[in-house]
Amino acid sequence: MQKRNKFRTAVITGVGMYVPEKVLDNKYFESIIDTNDEWIRARTGIKERRILEEGGTSILATKAIEDLLESTNTDPLDIDAIIVATVTPDMLFPATACLVQDNIGAKNAWGYDLSAACSGFIFALQSGTSLIESGQCEKVVVVGADKMSSIIDYTDRNTCILFGDGASAVLLEPSNDLDIGIQNSILRTDGSGRDVLRMKAGGSLHPASHETIDNREHFVYQDGKSVFKAAVKGMADVAVEIMEKSGLTGEDIAYLVPHQANLRIIDATARRMGINPERVTINIEKYGNTTAATIPLCLTEYYRDGKFKKGDNIILSAFGGGFTWGAVHLVWGIE
Ligand code: UT7
Repeated sequence: MQKRNKFRTAVITGVGMYVPEKVLDNKYFESIIDTNDEWIRARTGIKERRILEEGGTSILATKAIEDLLESTNTDPLDIDAIIVATVTPDMLFPATACLVQDNIGAKNAWGYDLSAACSGFIFALQSGTSLIESGQCEKVVVVGADKMSSIIDYTDRNTCILFGDGASAVLLEPSNDLDIGIQNSILRTDGSGRDVLRMKAGGSLHPASHETIDNREHFVYQDGKSVFKAAVKGMADVAVEIMEKSGLTGEDIAYLVPHQANLRIIDATARRMGINPERVTINIEKYGNTTAATIPLCLTEYYRDGKFKKGDNIILSAFGGGFTWGAVHLVWGIE
């Protein structure tokens, strides 16, 4: 295995999650747009998604981190840094990380938001890993959180059925056992994909105006077909590449934890990697695409379900707006 020169690794030592109670099922969409349950399930794998009715993304992230702190018995004062992966910050500034830091009483932590759309969690995980490996931090919270319902156009049937709200967090801590924790990552960005998945207005280029609102430019725009093609290739390519980098075959991998955007993209990635479908984490049917939250939500649910064992090789893989994409190889470190 190609290993980085390091004196300690970053290990996921705890997980936590929050999804709001309100459920939108496929039947609901039949009542607001021209669609049907069968089409949505067959084309995407989604049956329902969760919606946060009150408050912004910081509420989702706060509740997920509270779950993490409680389940790991961690004192918020011991947290050194908080990285919030999101494309739906409560506001452009202050960063959602500041709001979350205050909400949980992490008085000794600094933090920042990271914008990489559906790859946000794995980009943030790599950032947190670097903080741990370099010796700068001892406890880093990485949370993926998105209130996608705040930027979805519920008259656009191509897009609105796909997304939901949710958050999930992991705790990263150092280990001197270099064989556990984050082993390798490959991360990619290609801004030439900027036009097929984006929110046009609300930034410095097109600040909010009557015109941008009239033109419905504060919502997610997606050319589904183009993104689908790029995602199938990008996610599978990078997943195969990381297996080579870590010297793994399909049989060595306990679980593939893919971004949950479309079941067909997930299936194509698993096939290219030579992984048995039972070894792929899936919860898209319950939550849809929660953007930065999909991968940690899978990690949390499968771990709590007793599926991961210490020493398991796990591959995370994502593709999203930007374009951004990548894969991480980690060895599960919790008993
Ligand atoms: O996480 C970030 C990355 N995002 C993704 O990875 C999403 C990538 N894209 C996709 O998952 C898929 O492209 C979609 C699920 C968005 C669409 O599936 P598709 O198989 O690519 O469908 P399509 O866009 O080719 O549309 C097929 C037909 C069209 O009708 P015509 O032109 O054939 O008459 C659409 O108008 O399905 C129609 N359609 C719908 N029908 C019923 C589009 N949306 C719907 C809908 N219900 N909600």
